Amino acid sequence: MRDERQAALEVIASEVRACTRCRLHETRTLAVPGEGDPDTEVVFVGEGPGMNEDREGRPFVGRAGGLLVRLLASIGWQRDDVFITNVVKCRPPGNRDPEADEIAACAPYLQRQLEVLDPAVVVTLGRFSMQAFIPGARIGQVHGTTHPVDPATGAASALAFAMYHPAAALRSSGVEQTSFEDVARVPSVLVRARELRAGSPAPDASSATPPVTTTAPSTVAAAPVPPPRPDAPAAVVAEPAPDDASQLTLF
Ligand code: URA
Ligand code: SF4
Repeated sequence: MRDERQAALEVIASEVRACTRCRLHETRTLAVPGEGDPDTEVVFVGEGPGMNEDREGRPFVGRAGGLLVRLLASIGWQRDDVFITNVVKCRPPGNRDPEADEIAACAPYLQRQLEVLDPAVVVTLGRFSMQAFIPGARIGQVHGTTHPVDPATGAASALAFAMYHPAAALRSSGVEQTSFEDVARVPSVLVRARELRAGSPAPDASSATPPVTTTAPSTVAAAPVPPPRPDAPAAVVAEPAPDDASQLTLF
């Protein structure tokens, strides 16, 4: 399964590297398909490559990437534990915002990546990624909150969790602090997403928080977290017994 996913992701990446579907191909150095663990349960989706990403062909390798790695480290995760990609795979010149027709042209690649990865959680980084998964939302209102994902995105059964873009956090210490608070909720969002996918939400979880558009309880966020891989040792929490309400206290 892992090999099949890896191969399917590589097919998509090859198409992205040769893509001329929108004008961004004219000014890119390298396209940036995305990278990470093909078996991960968590996909981070940014906006588009910047200067460093355009040079290296890899996502989040510049200053914003440095902060993303620190955010992940704060919950005990590494970038290799997750999959990291972007809404548009080629750098908008001068780091301008991606345009609607560019986002639309590139969307099938992200959709196919999500179909292959079948993540439990999609973490959106910034406005453009948020708009793709939580239409109509405003970042200032939905950052740090969880929303069901439309399977039409390619993620058949996932929760979206919205965060500010790391580049915004680099510009504002307030946004940076908020980003650390927000990312601390991701492990408990993953636990809830696993329960929803297993069809057995823990009674405590469902009674403590509405199933839709909720803020993860911050009390569970400070504790140790499982690696976001179904086959990892800590994955015992992936399939909690329906009658075991104590599962969440593990976190
Ligand atoms: N910003 C993004 O949105 N994506 C990257 O890959 C790098 C910076
Ligand atoms: Fe193709 Fe996406 Fe690059 Fe546009 S941004 S050229 S659609 S890969």
